Amino acid sequence: MPTEPDSDIEYEAGVAIPGRILPADQWARTGIKRLPLEGPLDWQAIFGRSRPVVVDLGCGNGRFTLGSALARPDIDHFAIDLLPVVIRYATRRGNQRGLHNVRFAVKDAETFLSRYAPPASVAEIHLYHPQPYHDPRKAERRLLTPAVLALIHATLEPGGLFVVQTDNPDYWSYMRETLPALFHFEDHPDPWPDAPQGRSRREILARARGLVIFRGLGRKRDGLSVADASALAASLPRPRFRSRGPWCDLDRREDRE
Ligand SMILES: C[S@@+](CC[C@H](N)C(=O)[O-])C[C@H]1O[C@@H](n2cnc3c(N)ncnc32)[C@H](O)[C@@H]1O
Repeated sequence: MPTEPDSDIEYEAGVAIPGRILPADQWARTGIKRLPLEGPLDWQAIFGRSRPVVVDLGCGNGRFTLGSALARPDIDHFAIDLLPVVIRYATRRGNQRGLHNVRFAVKDAETFLSRYAPPASVAEIHLYHPQPYHDPRKAERRLLTPAVLALIHATLEPGGLFVVQTDNPDYWSYMRETLPALFHFEDHPDPWPDAPQGRSRREILARARGLVIFRGLGRKRDGLSVADASALAASLPRPRFRSRGPWCDLDRREDRE
């Protein structure tokens, strides 16, 4: 007889969301109504301890951050997204799993990096499936720009890690063209061992539609000063690529947003 899935496990496209929903008396309370008007943030004050910090830009429903926070309880996680609704969901999921090492906040990535994340304070920055915006009139909204790359470089600690992933071949070409200027960059074509079915919601949905996933790891080039990195970034192309990538239903929905 088929068994009912456990009611304390949530599924998304048939893949369990990391962790279990705990009894309500074990929930965390980590909601951030809004970030202060001015940064920088004080990680120690936010998390009540001093541990490495992992940032997730454009976190969507937070699947990567939840999985990483559960697997790495000694590391603190701060995830941001433009959309309040996804941050509400992600915060609730983190709280229901009793996670105290996670915060989710509504913020644009460039503002977050330039005004809130202290320089050289973050061990890892993750960027999963930034929207490609197929409509050329929206190309200016693309998250990854030379200015953002320079900010990511400045925000990472020495030797810090920048992890990128996309299912859009044109965005991938842009990443491979620009990232090596500021990072020691390598492809990581295989699924991440910690999440063989997909680290993020978009990865799981894209794989279900047969799309190829492009993954890469960039280690911060430490020899570059902030000024050098900014100057180098300024010489890089803007993300004006013409997106010919798979125009799937997922992208159509996101392009409308
Ligand atoms: C395709 S979804 C990917 C979500 C998640 N990373 C994943 O892989 O499932 C892109 C996300 O980036 C967010 N986003 C787009 N532009 C952003 C920006 N400038 N700053 C922060 N988040 C942004 C969108 O709201 C959306 O949730």
